[in-house]
Amino acid sequence: MNSENPIAIFDSGVGSLSIIKEIRNALPRENYIYLADKKHFPYGKKTHTELLRIVQNTIDYLSENFKPKLIVLASNTPSIQVLHEIEKTDAEIVGVFPPIGEAITASKTGHIAILATQNTVKSVELEEYIQSQKVPSTVKITKFNASGMVELVETGDFLSNKEKSRQVISEEFSRLDEIDSLVDTITLSSTHLPFLNEYFTTMKPALHLIDPAKIVAKKVTKLLEGNFQNTTQKGTLEILVSQEKQSLETIIRKLGIQEEIREICLDF
Ligand code: DGL
Repeated sequence: MNSENPIAIFDSGVGSLSIIKEIRNALPRENYIYLADKKHFPYGKKTHTELLRIVQNTIDYLSENFKPKLIVLASNTPSIQVLHEIEKTDAEIVGVFPPIGEAITASKTGHIAILATQNTVKSVELEEYIQSQKVPSTVKITKFNASGMVELVETGDFLSNKEKSRQVISEEFSRLDEIDSLVDTITLSSTHLPFLNEYFTTMKPALHLIDPAKIVAKKVTKLLEGNFQNTTQKGTLEILVSQEKQSLETIIRKLGIQEEIREICLDF
């Protein structure tokens, strides 16, 4: 595999962009394929079996068509629930996971919440992941269903309907407050959530927001170090969407991304 092979990155929609931004900052000369799999949105409401089938097929599709040197599964939902069941490919696959250690360090109250999608918060895999992190017994972790907020991002409402967005987020924060009013730190454990940061900081200025994007970028950089890192050219970004090209286009143009978008057909 040569250094010009791309890095493929995907999620159910615009979520990946929060991860791509950090990876491109770290590795601007690489070539990127970004697949927004809107056809299968929301990953967070799929069963385990459905999610595994979708993600395995997507990885096979990317491997066959683009021969990526690295695949970034820029989505917490499948990273947590099914990544360990994905068949090995030529390319290493990097996932995204709740940065629990960072959250514990940032928290003063020792009460943190993992904001993730509906079926992720219910999954045994998230519970197992938390157990594997050796959380001190003084720390309290709440698993919080943030699928309602994820939808604000994927529909574009966070840009076009600020009133609705504020209302939904305010209701979600009240619900979190009822579960544990001492939470002072949240992990953004859907890659859609960082797009709501402005709302979060305005509505809850004291809340610590822990985003794993930089951790993923560091991991990718490390994996490519002295290996396949492309240093010879200006990097490119190719954007693919599996459905609703117009809707993706409206959002990403507003976010200042100018590259062309190509609609592809995923027949699974
Ligand atoms: N952005 C995704 C995540 O990090 C999933 C959102 C969804 O499709 O439900 O979990």
